[in-house]
Amino acid sequence: MTKRPIIIDTDPGQDDAVAILLALASPELEVLGITAVAGNVPLPLTQKNTRIVCELAGRSDIKVFAGCDAPLHRKLITAEHVHGQTGLDGPEMPDPTMPLQDDHAVDFIIDTARATDGVTLCPLGPLTNIATALQKAPDIASRIREIVLMGGAYFEVGNITPTAEFNIYVDPEAADIVFKSGIPITVMPLDVTHKALTTQPRVDAFRNMGTPIGEAVAAWTDFFNRFDMEKYASPGAPLHDPCVIAYLIKPELFNGRHVNVCVETSSELTLGMTVADWWGVTDRTPNAMFMGDIDADGFFDLLTTRIASL
Ligand code: RIB
Ligand code: CA
Repeated sequence: MTKRPIIIDTDPGQDDAVAILLALASPELEVLGITAVAGNVPLPLTQKNTRIVCELAGRSDIKVFAGCDAPLHRKLITAEHVHGQTGLDGPEMPDPTMPLQDDHAVDFIIDTARATDGVTLCPLGPLTNIATALQKAPDIASRIREIVLMGGAYFEVGNITPTAEFNIYVDPEAADIVFKSGIPITVMPLDVTHKALTTQPRVDAFRNMGTPIGEAVAAWTDFFNRFDMEKYASPGAPLHDPCVIAYLIKPELFNGRHVNVCVETSSELTLGMTVADWWGVTDRTPNAMFMGDIDADGFFDLLTTRIASL
């Protein structure tokens, strides 16, 4: 089996952590490195949390890089109210001992895109690292096979404002650069992730694995659940970021439309909104496969099977 080379760009975050574990548990993928970005919590914590997750998976060999600590043109907005002060609240986790790489994440993305025949970028947080790499080295756009990102929304509208999803809202200018890059983009928006809910039976399935990893994932989702179940009065929280990795492994779990997506970067009222031309009412060129639906049971079957294999 030819492994698909990927870079995960991430702001852990409990859901990011589960996405990283899914990637490390999947032989279809070769994780060339993981780049941390400021998002759910500040960069010192997202890079530390990334290393915590790699060590939990027994993968201290993974190269972890620190990237941008603030959006391109704006003050950082974080989400401790969702993820807790550490960004990985829930279980007590030991500090990491594996090293953080010396190179900046943006340089790692550039160098790896140039050296690899068709790397796939998997952004799970604000798009600051990706946009900075594209600005610093425009030549890499033609070297990137696909960007599969978690972000945006159409029918589900917004989660951090009435009209914007968090990853896009934190750095709308970066998102605008990515969506205008011409690189094939697949989007996992809230429309999909809000159908992938960590219901109690699904959390129990993690805990019943009886492994430290299963217990950590159950404790993370228990913590993550408390905010979203209260907010949405739903039977579980949306497990956003693992949808990106699941798509790479089993794309048939998802369906959507190839449409034009633009990002609002000026209006205060709708800043960070992903304006998806879902019904093709404009002459704007389609630039993204915007997912709208997920086989949630199939997704959680894949996730629990793979996590249990770690
Ligand atoms: O809006 C959900 C997204 O924002 C997820 O990636 C979550 O981890 C946060 O980064
Ligand atoms: Ca994230």
